[in-house]
Amino acid sequence: MAKTNDEATSRAMIFEMLMENPGEIIPSSLLTQKLSSSRQAVFKAVCALRDEGVPVESIPQRGYRLDGIEDLQKLSPTMIEYFLRGNPLFNRCIYMRETDSTQKVIKKLALQEAEAGVLALTERQSEGRGRRGRSWQSLDEKNLMFSMLLRPALKPGEVQLLNLAAGLAVKETLRELCGIPAELKWPNDILCRDRKLCGILSEASGEPDRIYYAVTGIGINVNMESADIPDDISAVATSVCIESGRQFARWKLLVEFLDRFAGFMSLLTSRGGAAKLLALYRTGCDTIGKDIRVMQDEEVFTGRATDITPEGALVVQTGEGEKIFAAADVHHLRMA
Ligand code: BTN
Repeated sequence: MAKTNDEATSRAMIFEMLMENPGEIIPSSLLTQKLSSSRQAVFKAVCALRDEGVPVESIPQRGYRLDGIEDLQKLSPTMIEYFLRGNPLFNRCIYMRETDSTQKVIKKLALQEAEAGVLALTERQSEGRGRRGRSWQSLDEKNLMFSMLLRPALKPGEVQLLNLAAGLAVKETLRELCGIPAELKWPNDILCRDRKLCGILSEASGEPDRIYYAVTGIGINVNMESADIPDDISAVATSVCIESGRQFARWKLLVEFLDRFAGFMSLLTSRGGAAKLLALYRTGCDTIGKDIRVMQDEEVFTGRATDITPEGALVVQTGEGEKIFAAADVHHLRMA
């Protein structure tokens, strides 16, 4: 049964009080007073927080205390929303243990006129989708899979810019928070040692001169170990854990990404900001300057990637002259 708003508010208030008094025991009486509700209602909200994986300890006769959340592996929507309070773009987190695809969940909300800034997060997708009609596989409770509802002032031909902004934000998060040398591969992959760590998929609906909404979905391999990666993709896939040698709290990675992504989105939608974002992407994209193989539909081209157009397409100098690819699969060739 869906939880009512009141229950969600109680959970949020209790989490806030525990979080803002680290290590302290918060008396139940203070919580009941603050929530203007009964001990029973407080207990129920505490249980709901625990169900989300938040480590709330009961101290008999005294109250409640929050245990360390630094290494928490669970994804608690109440906790994530708390950490999104300073985020100018995101404010709501929907967590599902399982769904068909978070892209679908967000599209449905977009069609119901939901405001931008909602995030759908899951552990398992039965119809997880990747680019070009491929599927996206993951492993429960190890990785991050989420989609975001955006309503940017962009034209449909500029949707690729969302992938570039998200790619920059993932790369920066993985480098700064996790200390791994993540690289951006055009159009929207994040690699480490030439193996894929993260994929990004943006889809939009609109009319010729404006987008009604866009859904940007992201899959990041976070805590999978080598043995967790299926044999058929072990040569081309990796995870943050494999690259860094340690596990990461997924909630922290998510919140840090969302902060950075909101920053890149604000740059993208500011006056003259798209050109600035593109300049950052050109400098940060590992594909530029590389010899590459480009697969588009049934055709294969080789050449050197030289630039990104203002719409985010890739410019490649081939034997047959300059070609521009709005969408394609790219393979980096090893330089001699
Ligand atoms: C790709 O590299 O092909 C893009 C992969 C995008 C996967 C994510 S996981 C969360 C969201 N839901 C989906 O069904 N796909 C995206």
